[in-house]
Amino acid sequence: MIDLSHFSSFFVANWKLNSSFEFINNFVSSLNIDKSTKKCVSICAPYIYLNHLQVKRKDFYLGAQDCSCFEGGAYTGEVSAKMLNEVGTSFCIVGHSERRQYFNESNKIIKLKAIRLIENNIIPIICIGETLEEKNNNKTQNILKNQLDESVPESSNQFNTIIAYEPIWAIGTGLTPSLDEIENAHRYIKKLNKKFFNFKIIYGGSVNSKNSKPISKIDIVNGALIGGASLNINEFNQIIR
Ligand code: PGA
Repeated sequence: MIDLSHFSSFFVANWKLNSSFEFINNFVSSLNIDKSTKKCVSICAPYIYLNHLQVKRKDFYLGAQDCSCFEGGAYTGEVSAKMLNEVGTSFCIVGHSERRQYFNESNKIIKLKAIRLIENNIIPIICIGETLEEKNNNKTQNILKNQLDESVPESSNQFNTIIAYEPIWAIGTGLTPSLDEIENAHRYIKKLNKKFFNFKIIYGGSVNSKNSKPISKIDIVNGALIGGASLNINEFNQIIR
């Protein structure tokens, strides 16, 4: 497992259901990671491209976007944490709102996935966040608390797990919370449970080259989970710069 304490910040590209060999070749050849900084860059690609990315690897860490909650057996179509470890995966997103919404993933399933990942030396990036309706009804804190209580396993700690705060209404919409709202949510998570105080917590939701700087200047924001803007190598290079 990689040592999270070694890094100052984390920039995680979530390519979702995008990419191709041609896209990857262009992306990796233009990717510009400053070796003199302690920034950790991870690319979470569709499973089928992980091996190709591994071969092309250039100072970034391989990430997946999901994994099975099962260890192995008769589960057609699944990919286990052990298999992800075998191809060199260091990080894996779990509980992304798209998985919760379109694939009916519950906190219980997300927790099982995080357990499997930790057992296999992969850092789960556990996503939590509220809908716009929940935000408007002042339910953000309740939602975050419930998601954290139910989806973060006992075995999680500051060294083996990252939390991603991703307000659902900010994902892919071009909308972002104010800097104060981001800071408050991160502060709330840290205070919720003594154990979370030293966790790395990253922000996700419409991060781009313009807003990434002010967001990452908030001292309790440890980086970003980047969807749409991670598909544009110029944007992504500017974000990680
Ligand atoms: P976005 O996606 O940057 O396109 O909003 C973020 C995410 O879904 O992780």
